[in-house]
Amino acid sequence: MRILVHIDDAPMWRDALKSRLPQAEVFTSDDGVDDIDYLAVWKPPASLLERHANARGIVNLGAGVDALLNNPGLPKGMPIVKLRDAGMGEFMADYVRYGVLHFQRDFDRYLRQERNAQWKEVPLVAKRDWAVGILGLGAIGKHVAQALASDGFPVHGWSRSPKEIEGVTCHHGDDGLNTLLTRVRTLVTLLPDTAATRHIINAETLAALPEGATLINPGRGTLIDEAALLEALGDTENEGRLRGALLDAFPEEPLPADNPLWAHPRVRITPHMAAPTPVEEAADQVAETLRAWEAGETVETVDPQSGY
Ligand code: GLV
Repeated sequence: MRILVHIDDAPMWRDALKSRLPQAEVFTSDDGVDDIDYLAVWKPPASLLERHANARGIVNLGAGVDALLNNPGLPKGMPIVKLRDAGMGEFMADYVRYGVLHFQRDFDRYLRQERNAQWKEVPLVAKRDWAVGILGLGAIGKHVAQALASDGFPVHGWSRSPKEIEGVTCHHGDDGLNTLLTRVRTLVTLLPDTAATRHIINAETLAALPEGATLINPGRGTLIDEAALLEALGDTENEGRLRGALLDAFPEEPLPADNPLWAHPRVRITPHMAAPTPVEEAADQVAETLRAWEAGETVETVDPQSGY
């Protein structure tokens, strides 16, 4: 089989796939070859997808398929397989742990106090009283939910359809979302970017959170209505309903320098670094997927309607 790789560091990915699939021919998009069977890509240019419209399928070298599904060059009906966890779950769990502890252990407050040389201990809220809500229970959301639960936080999870995860209180549907929102001190958004999830965090959902709740978004920027978020955060003088936010994903990346979120005193920003794709683990999964695909076995493809 002939595989074409397109991603930053493509030669490294090519070698990782070659070593796992010794029978395959693996190229990068710089090689200018045709007659490709499978594409393994992250954010490819439309022209690359158009050039290889006869390929049998695409492996998306990330968890979110929004960029690929929105790519104007994507041939209609082209089957897509996406990475599922592939080591990203643990990176994401660490990012979310950091964020939850930032608020639960009051590091946000201590940071502000430190700037004013202020020495003042804040009463500690126990982990068992700090419920965390995870929106999105795909492979990564599930991993994060279970990690936080085993750390000792009560964890509520939400997905569109019912799920069961050991150690996690699972909710689903619109009613389930409202129930979850009223119960959590930190809300974590790990949903895919789809028509159904766009601005799921809006004035109404933010108002359903308890006073002093906090938000962590390492998912997609489109999940959040930014104007509603700024309103809920309040300003320097008037703290709003939302105590703070840790944000890693934005509708426009890089986040423009004049975006008011950069300057907000209770917002922390990271540059979409929460869960990079680890090459070795991902290459294991890609190689196994391509082997199964080539052997005519069933592979779990993305549903373009639901968007994941
Ligand atoms: C990164 O954002 C990914 O979808 O893997």
